[in-house]
Amino acid sequence: MSTLSTQPYKGTRDFYPMDMRVRNWIFSRLRKTLRTFGYEEYDGPMLEPFELYAAKTSEEIVNEQLYWLVDRGERKLAIRPEMTPTLARMVAAKQNELPRPIRWFSIPNLWRYERPQRGRLREHWQLNVDTFGGEPITEDLEICQVIVAIMQGFGAESGYEVRLNHRGVTDYIFRELLKLTDDKIPTIGRLLDTAPKMAPGVFAASLAKEGLEPGQIELLESLLKKDACTRLAKQLGDNPHFKHLMDLTAKLDALGVGTFFRYDPSIMRGFMYYTGMVLEVYDLHPENNRALFGGGRYDNLVGMFGGNALPGVGFGMGDVTLRYFLEINKLLPDMKTPRGIYIAHLEDEQFMPAQRLAQDMRHRFSDADVDVPVMTSLSPDKPRKIFTTAEKLGARAVVFVGPDDVKKGEFQMKDLVTGVQTQGPAPTLMVTFMTTYVNETHGV
Ligand code: HAM
Repeated sequence: MSTLSTQPYKGTRDFYPMDMRVRNWIFSRLRKTLRTFGYEEYDGPMLEPFELYAAKTSEEIVNEQLYWLVDRGERKLAIRPEMTPTLARMVAAKQNELPRPIRWFSIPNLWRYERPQRGRLREHWQLNVDTFGGEPITEDLEICQVIVAIMQGFGAESGYEVRLNHRGVTDYIFRELLKLTDDKIPTIGRLLDTAPKMAPGVFAASLAKEGLEPGQIELLESLLKKDACTRLAKQLGDNPHFKHLMDLTAKLDALGVGTFFRYDPSIMRGFMYYTGMVLEVYDLHPENNRALFGGGRYDNLVGMFGGNALPGVGFGMGDVTLRYFLEINKLLPDMKTPRGIYIAHLEDEQFMPAQRLAQDMRHRFSDADVDVPVMTSLSPDKPRKIFTTAEKLGARAVVFVGPDDVKKGEFQMKDLVTGVQTQGPAPTLMVTFMTTYVNETHGV
């Protein structure tokens, strides 16, 4: 009989406790920042009707990446590849009851049948931040501010750039400046989207193959240049969508965060539902130079379910690319910092007193609202092994429970990092532990 593999399914990850610590730390930072703007957390089901994506998501996702199944009642279902359609469905279902503006976030796990590679997996977790019911300019401005606040929440004051574009501007360039016909637009859009990853000359050659004239090719190539905004300003000056972007960047400047943002007319974003501003956040580290996360405005997604078209805007930030960014910029704390207490006993007779002491300490830590694990040994400790066991379990201090200590009601505690010993009843040990260690390790 062949043995079963211990490997997780391709493109998925096992989260052992140390990985889970990192994930929880990252998510708790995200939640903390989002609460400062008044965003509330929501969630939805993993399975949705297949048509929810067939209608509006990107063609690549629907045709190549969707995991789908037929249930026992012959219903065709998809495992969510993104959260935005679920969010639109949920908002549409209660749109008259929900207080406006709606400010919601979620951290769902999503599934896409991708070729696994660095930064791209088949299952990832994605922070989704979205708002509905305000004016486009104020909402877009808020979403941009949230992005900076999230990065600042991780201590990132540089190392990334938010590239902004607008579907209305792209449409104007394609139709009015390039005179492209409807049938050409999707192909040229896709080529422009992938152009930054192409070898020199390939973009121009592909455009020529599509039958574009030299003048059209030159204009499209100029969209990829850093100074595209200045080059285009003359031709786009009166376009209301271009004005929107300029107004947005001016407001971001006035708020002191403008340096993180740049108009980039080559930003396309693959989703069919975007109708206004689109954005892509880039990691600027040379070893990691890639998109970190992205989003945009969708004005008709909620209306798809009947009722009013309630415009919304938001972004999705994947945990895989974010973790690379935090690692390479050394923004993750040392998760191995020991932070618990290990209560050791040498004989069976001290098992129950050790349990009582642990119970007492846990209540006291809980009353003080500090998060310190108090671990006991489940069988008598061997004296030689106490310290190694405690260290492996992530304890910072060991408290010994011997026969004389139980009689006196006083115990000895040893700090495994500094070697300092403290003698006393539980409250004394607690105070020493909290003042010495909790400040050092709080939040990890
Ligand atoms: P998306 O660009 O498909 O947008 O995904 C957003 C982010 O999720 C990506 O930039 C990346 O960080 C992460 N991501 C996506 N696919 C994978 C993958 N296979 N492996 C690892 N990370 C991945 C959306 O999904 C939109 N629904 C976002 C949105 C929310 N727009 C408005 N609101």
